Amino acid sequence: MLLNYSDDGPGPVVVLIHGFTLDHTMWDSQRETLGSIYRVIAPDLRGHGRSAAPEGIYPIDDLADDVVELLDRLKISEPVVLGGLSMGGYVALSIAVRHPKRLRGLMLLNTRAAADTPETAQVREDLALQIDATGDVTPVVATMLPKLFGPTSRSTRGDLVERTGEVMRRSPARGVSGSLRGMAVRPDRVADLRRITLPTLVMAGAADALIPVEESRLMAGALPNAELAIIPDAGHLAPLENPGAANAAILRFLGSLA
Ligand code: MLT
Repeated sequence: MLLNYSDDGPGPVVVLIHGFTLDHTMWDSQRETLGSIYRVIAPDLRGHGRSAAPEGIYPIDDLADDVVELLDRLKISEPVVLGGLSMGGYVALSIAVRHPKRLRGLMLLNTRAAADTPETAQVREDLALQIDATGDVTPVVATMLPKLFGPTSRSTRGDLVERTGEVMRRSPARGVSGSLRGMAVRPDRVADLRRITLPTLVMAGAADALIPVEESRLMAGALPNAELAIIPDAGHLAPLENPGAANAAILRFLGSLA
């Protein structure tokens, strides 16, 4: 499926994949900061932003293949640096495992390698059924939004929380239920980590309520060639909440690959 995407800047390609119910605009700060040195491509995954939202379940491997198809259409055959946040990280891991030759570096931001527990998968299915019945994504947004931001953002960045909520509420119902069901059946990739030899940046938000820092530390430890950056004053959306620290870590990492 052809995805909507942004494409900014000259130089080596960096692809950034957004999280669940977000879109490529979550990377605005990274597009601006990295875009003077790198060509930053940020797709809208299927069911998100301006990409189409077909009916049915969206397996993570299909989302990953959409991104590879986009690279093919853009005639980008040289290995790229790929980053993904949370659900975007599941997609990035799928590409790292299934299409490793397309990559020269990996950035796993506020994400995990483990599959859903049965309880989490059930919560997702219940939400998807609710959305199917009502066509209304507001309950998912209401459940998720408070968990995405750390305390600093919640108390000082009301504008950012509100803007993010607007993007989430615009998500098409089919995209939200398709993604929920796709995440619920995604494969566990913990055992794959030790085979990913790409240089990898693992980023954690110091106050991420969804992915504890310790889990990110374990993931970085399981990857043969990874470094961990813990972003202060940030929750689950570290690159949005503290772009200064997140961009510095990303630029350092990208520079180390040159
Ligand atoms: C995300 O931010 O993409 C979600 O938290 C991922 C998930 O629900 O597992």
